[in-house]
Amino acid sequence: MKFFIDTASLDEINAAAELGVLDGVTTNPSLIAKIVKDPANFTYADFKAHIARICEIVDGPVSAEVTTLKSEEMIAQGEELAAIHKNVVVKCPLTVEGLKAIRHFSQNGIKTNATLVFSPTQALLAAKAGADFVSPFVGRLDDVSTSGMELVRQIVTIYDNYGYLTEVIVASVRNPLHVVESAMAGADIATLPYSVIKQLANHPLTDKGLEKFMEDAAVMKG
Ligand code: G3P
Repeated sequence: MKFFIDTASLDEINAAAELGVLDGVTTNPSLIAKIVKDPANFTYADFKAHIARICEIVDGPVSAEVTTLKSEEMIAQGEELAAIHKNVVVKCPLTVEGLKAIRHFSQNGIKTNATLVFSPTQALLAAKAGADFVSPFVGRLDDVSTSGMELVRQIVTIYDNYGYLTEVIVASVRNPLHVVESAMAGADIATLPYSVIKQLANHPLTDKGLEKFMEDAAVMKG
């Protein structure tokens, strides 16, 4: 299973990369907005430079999202984003317009991540259009009393049934249980906030056991 980090923060990306478990990065406009200190002076060129910096840190897929609604504009923007670095994956919303853009990119050797996916039919369309990745948002489904993980299981089964190569990125992950259930479902990737990556390593019995080991090891210090 691969782990991506779901952030635009260079500090968080560096910290996760140091752990040696990082396979890629996903960003979206909301995550970019969080790291912008001076929005009035943050340009599209700044955005592209930021994506380039992320690509220097992580040697794996880096999703950068289009910010337009029409397929022609998504195509123009996505081509610019893909030109930043070979690892850039163009993230397109799973809309009718987004599907047209995904199809164009898949026919032109540009990798895509179909995002804002909330149903198995959307995921099926993403695969048929040639998306390299599909991103079901599990936390946001849980927020509206619908099982996000059930959607992941459906997508994995459907892709297995037909041999689609589109990789499933579980997104909108909120806690370690989402990660465990994603792994049990056979999802290819989970994209995690840095806070969840840290939570994965924590266990109170590890802390308690370590405290005792340190205490007992102290007898050797003399
Ligand atoms: O990868 C999608 C993710 O950033 C959305 O997360 O927590 O805003 O639903 P959230």
